[in-house]
Amino acid sequence: MSTGKAQISFKIAALLFATLTLGACNGGDSEPETQDKTPTQNVIPATSIGYGTMPSLAQSDNNFVGDHFSGSGACGVCHNDITDDNNKDVSIGTAWETSTMANAARDPYWRAKAAATIKNYPHLSHEVDDTCTRCHAPMANEAARKDGAEYALFGDGFLNPENKYFDHAMDGVSCTLCHQIEDTGSLGTIASMSGNFSIAELPPEDKESRPAYGQYADPVGAYMIANAAYTPIYGAHMSDSSVCGTCHDLKTPTVDSNGEVIPAVLEDRFPEQQTYSEWRNSDYRTGGAKDATCQSCHMPKNNTTVALASSGTDIRRSDFSEHTFLGANTVMLDMFKNFRNELGIQVEGFDQAILRNREFLKTSADLTINGTRNEGDSIIATIQVKNNTGHKLPSGYPSRRVFVHFIVTDENGAVVFESGKMNPDGSIVGADGDINYKEYEPHYNSIVREDQVLIFESIMGDTRGQVTHSLIEAARHLKDNRLTPVGFDKNVVSSDVAVTGEALLDNNFNAGLDIFEYKVPVTENGTYFIYADLVYQPLAYGHLEYLFKDTDVPEVDQFKTIYDATTLRSETISSAVRQHTF
Ligand code: HEC
Ligand code: HEC
Ligand code: HEC
Ligand code: HEC
Ligand code: HEC
Repeated sequence: MSTGKAQISFKIAALLFATLTLGACNGGDSEPETQDKTPTQNVIPATSIGYGTMPSLAQSDNNFVGDHFSGSGACGVCHNDITDDNNKDVSIGTAWETSTMANAARDPYWRAKAAATIKNYPHLSHEVDDTCTRCHAPMANEAARKDGAEYALFGDGFLNPENKYFDHAMDGVSCTLCHQIEDTGSLGTIASMSGNFSIAELPPEDKESRPAYGQYADPVGAYMIANAAYTPIYGAHMSDSSVCGTCHDLKTPTVDSNGEVIPAVLEDRFPEQQTYSEWRNSDYRTGGAKDATCQSCHMPKNNTTVALASSGTDIRRSDFSEHTFLGANTVMLDMFKNFRNELGIQVEGFDQAILRNREFLKTSADLTINGTRNEGDSIIATIQVKNNTGHKLPSGYPSRRVFVHFIVTDENGAVVFESGKMNPDGSIVGADGDINYKEYEPHYNSIVREDQVLIFESIMGDTRGQVTHSLIEAARHLKDNRLTPVGFDKNVVSSDVAVTGEALLDNNFNAGLDIFEYKVPVTENGTYFIYADLVYQPLAYGHLEYLFKDTDVPEVDQFKTIYDATTLRSETISSAVRQHTF
């Protein structure tokens, strides 16, 4: 499977970047370059879209067998080509490989963000390398830690095909990472979060004892042990949300205005992503009224039976979880699809992945027009959105936003009012933060002008209280009006998951719901049509503007090229339309 590895292998971006800033990034690692590592600028044409040329990431070998981890290919040998009772393909490797987690280290946005952070804070490069690879290239990070090796991300670091951990890195959040997470007793506590998962420590000569924890109490082990040198074994914790919480709950350190990290214990750091904690404050928490784990929504249960492996077993088991890892980021999946060559991606199937994620996204909320009425010379429309997910909507990375696109037309279809229109470049008309990334749109309970837009988002502020889109500068939230999940009470939750800004005072905003109104001035009597869409956008425009200041960094330049050539910007979650007579 490693075809083409050597040929396309040079990552010019990393090289250029290394000469630009780094060297310090290697934590003093002075391993001599191997003789055959001639830095040829191997730029391949971006044939997949016929769009100029750009530096490419090398392909990797996912069949690698390491001391601590094995590649996904080594598991896919048996855990692919499996079907359920309806003959539906439920291959585990095939489902996983088109997820964002599988491609977490090829993700051009992540690489750009990490590279830009190092450019702006070169003295923190080692911390950035370590932090950013911990969850996005976790097998490389953990293996290097276990081996006591020096490691870096760029230069001759993990992204360089000559690096010892290159294949580990490029396999992303892979089978043997998740399936070796130990139940140390701290799962579900802050000690296990922010990437503090614990991986079994076994002597390298005893590979067979390495665990592959699963939900079944009695797996038939001998065949897998003999052929994969991993032992399938029951681990109740694999079915618990806290396993996901090890990476999906993240607090990050903050720098002061001199660029120095402010010392703080984990508890007191900036809550950058709190998906697990949000879930814990919802009715979806274990034991809550709507009890549902991360797995139950994101790895849907197959309701027939499945033999777990294509060989070595005849047992058909119920309780099988599909590894589709359904999410929201169709835009990144579209980038993976269109830039396979440049990103060194060998698999296909992103079209289907986009479709199933799109369907999933439609389940995440309901928008309804509760009522319309006339008031003076205006039409008032009252709208409600209800979050159906197990966490905030949007959740996760701070560049996610959900907004309302609201239109009123007359009976001939002529637009008389529009708020929340998106431009082809991904910016929203009238949104303050899209005009100037140092500002942000307030939360609204009532919208009376077209340049007022209801955007559910979190906005980070630095130590001086100014808007920042840099994770390392973030000290607190200036605004967080992301839709809360059902069961969440903004008046009692801890500061880590707090609602911040005007939404805190908005009496119609809490516990999974927001109700708000639009006041549309009209001049003529007649029939009007009112349309409202709830739209999800993973890459908020202000975050991009902020990042694209640094296009002198090759990774940022590459990501900008990819972004500019991409047309998918958003997804519609839910829509409503109503006719009204004025
Ligand atoms: C504790 C684990 C963890 C660490 C550490 C971490 N991330 Fe992430 N990162 C995530 C998760 C989980 C997501 C996906 C959340 C989502 O989809 O909204 C993510 C998403 C992202 C995204 C968005 C990717 C996309 O395709 O939209 C970027 C950019 C990113 N991270 C950058 C970084 C950088 C830079 C660092 C280092 C400073 C870092 N991350 C460290 C867990 C982590
Ligand atoms: C040679 C074939 C083969 C290979 C390769 C293989 N497995 Fe398995 N695996 C099996 C069989 C057979 C079972 C048991 C099926 C049963 O009992 O229903 C199994 C079971 C499992 C289980 C379920 C454990 C439980 O108790 O719930 C997990 C998890 C697992 N494998 C993960 C992996 C991972 C990770 C890899 C890659 C390192 C891998 N497998 C490689 C054949 C294989
Ligand atoms: C992000 C973490 C994660 C990754 C990556 C992952 N798994 Fe799993 N896997 C799980 C969890 C969690 C379960 C248990 C789900 C449950 O309890 O219902 C599971 C269950 C399984 C099972 C039992 C059958 C089933 O699907 O329910 C097998 C076999 C398995 N995984 C193999 C693999 C293989 C092979 C890969 C890589 C191609 C892989 N897993 C990647 C988290 C992961
Ligand atoms: C009741 C079902 C449900 C549960 C439980 C649930 N999720 Fe989600 N999740 C969704 C839906 C639907 C979406 C897509 C809409 C969105 O972006 O929030 C989603 C989106 C996400 C995203 C992308 C965030 C974004 O907005 O871009 C991440 C990451 C995520 N979930 C992780 C988790 C984790 C981790 C847990 C467990 C702590 C979990 N989810 C529990 C349904 C659920
Ligand atoms: C080792 C760290 C790690 C673990 C453990 C982990 N994740 Fe993730 N997850 C990530 C990272 C990193 C990303 C973002 C990848 C990217 O976009 O670059 C992500 C992305 C996702 C997304 C995609 C969100 C979107 O917007 O499309 C979903 C869904 C998700 N994870 C679910 C889960 C579930 C469910 C579990 C537990 C079974 C889990 N993850 C465990 C690191 C992890």
